[in-house]
Amino acid sequence: MIKNDIEKVLISEQQLSDIIDSLAERITNDYKDSARKLVFVVILKGSIPFATELMKRVTLPLEIEVMKVSSYGAGTKSSGEIRIHTDLLRDDLPDCDLLIIEDIVDSGRTLARLTQLFEHRLVGSVKTCTMLDKPSRREVEFVPDYVGTVVPNEFVVGFGLDYDEKYRNLPFVGVLKPEIYS
Ligand code: IMP
Ligand code: MG
Repeated sequence: MIKNDIEKVLISEQQLSDIIDSLAERITNDYKDSARKLVFVVILKGSIPFATELMKRVTLPLEIEVMKVSSYGAGTKSSGEIRIHTDLLRDDLPDCDLLIIEDIVDSGRTLARLTQLFEHRLVGSVKTCTMLDKPSRREVEFVPDYVGTVVPNEFVVGFGLDYDEKYRNLPFVGVLKPEIYS
């Protein structure tokens, strides 16, 4: 049972549901008058559960794209370089409102780099939506447009977030028992 590896639940299933409801309402309201196509850009893999729930509750027409990105560098220390494994390739970007969907913003490097990239590609608009934000960990200046909730400086898993590729399927967000890391 993966639940047995969790020390404490930080955000319950119900709390996540409420957070996603309110984000969906804001997004629906903010994009309802746009003449461009709303495109959810889902950052694999961690954003899958969040994006799935969020898109069901946004009541506007929208399209889905995916990108797979990771941070360069050996070991645990990120060099800050973002590697794009799967890029977003479409020729109608000026007609699109991209909303990049992330699981968590930590150093800020991934989303800072991605938004910068799309600004160079003459996209209609680009905004970012993250389920969780850890502003205390920021290494570059970056403020997401939509934040589900702020979390303390702890490593969290569940609802898409992994430790060593595991725990993504937990229905809540929690903190692992310390012995799992050692
Ligand atoms: P950053 O904002 O560029 O540092 O990168 C954010 C990425 O780091 C996220 O998309 C996650 O994949 C990963 N990450 C950061 N903090 C956590 C955490 O607490 N649990 C699981 N993954 C995390
Ligand atoms: Mg991620």
